[in-house]
Amino acid sequence: MRCSGAVARTSAQLQVHSIRRRFATSSFLRRAFQEGDVVLLKDKKTANHDGLLVKLQAAKQTHTHRGNLAHADMIGKEPRQLVHSTRGNAYRIHEPTLAEYVRLTPRLVTPIYPADANLIVSLLDLHVDTPSNSPNGNPPVEILEAGTGHGALTLHLARAIHAANPPLPKLHNYASEQEPEDPVYLGESIADLQDASIETWRANRGAIVHTLDISGKHSKHARKIVDGFRHGMYASSVDFHVGDPASWITEQLKARKTVDPFLSHVLLDLPGADAYLDVVASALQVNGLLAVFNPSITQIAECVEKIRKDRMPYLLDQVVELGASTIREWDVRAVRPRATLRQAEQKDAPGSSSGAESIDAVNGQEGRDKELAQDLAKSEEKWAMVCRPKAGQEVVGGGFIALWRKMEPANLSESPEPSPAAREEA
Ligand SMILES: C[S@@+](CC[C@H](N)C(=O)[O-])C[C@H]1O[C@@H](n2cnc3c(N)ncnc32)[C@H](O)[C@@H]1O
Repeated sequence: MRCSGAVARTSAQLQVHSIRRRFATSSFLRRAFQEGDVVLLKDKKTANHDGLLVKLQAAKQTHTHRGNLAHADMIGKEPRQLVHSTRGNAYRIHEPTLAEYVRLTPRLVTPIYPADANLIVSLLDLHVDTPSNSPNGNPPVEILEAGTGHGALTLHLARAIHAANPPLPKLHNYASEQEPEDPVYLGESIADLQDASIETWRANRGAIVHTLDISGKHSKHARKIVDGFRHGMYASSVDFHVGDPASWITEQLKARKTVDPFLSHVLLDLPGADAYLDVVASALQVNGLLAVFNPSITQIAECVEKIRKDRMPYLLDQVVELGASTIREWDVRAVRPRATLRQAEQKDAPGSSSGAESIDAVNGQEGRDKELAQDLAKSEEKWAMVCRPKAGQEVVGGGFIALWRKMEPANLSESPEPSPAAREEA
């Protein structure tokens, strides 16, 4: 197995993070966009426009069917300001939220969608303290996520624990200097000293997400996704590994020279999760949480059955359906009644594609738009409010999550609590 985690993240990579600007909410709200920022461009005219994610590079242009957008025009703009394409179309420039970033980044596998990821993080009941409040020597909170996939849940987990970690050490940016060689100090090169300070910082982290994928390609892509969000603000809380849970756990226990469990939380989002329940039990601390995410309830049932049959030390806490209560986006905006009517009439004009009767959700909504416009036009010419759920939005995500608590090994001799159904049968 190749592990590309703690050891594989080189000081050069960490250096990038140590010189990053601040991207916490408090400091980015009014900042001007700079080269290297990832921004979200939304077509000003189309309310439902999902947006385009663009990484700003001064010499580049982004091509759209509404003309090209020069990045140089976007650099220096503040959030919500307008930029214009070569065909005169206006786009508003935004700082993408985590949800927008996850939804719009190119993907190799289906991620856990933001609404589901938020619920999972909440169910995991993660609580970390700031480094100043945690006595030195306390073991860190260690979370295992397998598989990494797109890195979507990884980012949400990292956001939840990030505040437990000290800032990265200030590293000497020797890569950008003219000196061809490292100066040597007391027999140690600056590179050695930097590696040592990274190791000290690493050992002092209060919380870590270990994310594991069998596919090196997925892991590499997910690392880019994590590194790309606000200049990698959460990257230092994540260690990427390639492998499967069984070999990774065996290797970790060997490297730590212990048989003591070291994980507080484990999240499995991979096919055949039931095959790993046993090995996970050897690394999960007593009272720690195991969560299994699966699109099908039958696979959750297989885990429940395996735990019962093999008398594994887990107590089922809850099984929750995700995506059942969908988060519906609403269209809330002020309109000028006559302008709205004119727009609706234009859509109805001969040659306009929306004139035909349609039963699909999006075109059906246009008929309602006209009714609404006519209604509004009866009132005086002043601003009025449109408030309604957005139609035609695809509902994505969903699945099931089951949560178990690890039991005391001493309780293994106890027979696991029978399910209510088993009690009825007895
Ligand atoms: C559906 S994706 C996970 C999506 C991820 N949770 C997210 O939010 O982006 C499943 C991942 O599990 C990985 N995988 C499959 N079998 C595995 C195994 N035995 N061990 C580790 N990872 C595995 C796949 O390569 C794939 O990337």
